[in-house]
Amino acid sequence: MGTQKQQKQVVSFILNGQPVSVTVVGRRSLLSVLREDFGIISPKNGCAPQGACGCCTVLIDDKPQLSCILDVTRVERKRITTAEGLTPQIRTQLASAFVRAGAVQCGYCLPGIAMRTVNLLDHNPQPTREEIAADLKPHLCRCTGYTKIIDAIQLLAHLRQGHELPAAPEGGGVGTRLDRYGGKEQVLGDFRYVDDIRIDGMSYAALRFSDYPRALVKAIDPTPAMKIVGVQRVITAADVPGDRYVGLLEKDWPVLV
Ligand code: FES
Repeated sequence: MGTQKQQKQVVSFILNGQPVSVTVVGRRSLLSVLREDFGIISPKNGCAPQGACGCCTVLIDDKPQLSCILDVTRVERKRITTAEGLTPQIRTQLASAFVRAGAVQCGYCLPGIAMRTVNLLDHNPQPTREEIAADLKPHLCRCTGYTKIIDAIQLLAHLRQGHELPAAPEGGGVGTRLDRYGGKEQVLGDFRYVDDIRIDGMSYAALRFSDYPRALVKAIDPTPAMKIVGVQRVITAADVPGDRYVGLLEKDWPVLV
């Protein structure tokens, strides 16, 4: 570990219309500062700091950018907009279009996609499917196959031109396509995934994988980890009560080693 003292720095910017300042020590990403210091949970951490998934996209001076790979000091005096800072009308339109088009599954990627979509439609009010697909390139969605997301963005473009939202299907019987329960909160990033849970004084856990794939782990010595300042517990298989093996066809996945 380095012994060099980490530099403290005050960074000021406009966050969703409000001037804010934050003191950072060492290098911090904009994503980390938004989520941990300001409690803004709509930009999600899908792969930080790889910059590969697009879940952390925010608008910086109205341009979509990945917040996980951007050092917060780079946004000094800039305007940051997240889904929390969009106007109520834009939020309603976004949420309604994505939900009615059936574009919400796990929803984790959607707040980032929503921010890029706002920017796209501001510049190109009636994009073609090809233009939308090209715009979505920085975003990974592992559930939908993108078709419904493109449908949703085209529906949003219609709404923004004053057209009505197509009526919700009626009935609710088996086979009826219904608006996804909780879908609007997922689109806007208000839905709380595990990473969004905040409880005063909560502890954080980090998974430690074996250094060797397919290794047979014969023993785990938690002593060195317990010596690290702040570590409260090392949890291993011995702490899992009951049947430790889970699985779909065969119960052959151990919960912890
Ligand atoms: Fe930033 Fe994945 S979390 S691109």
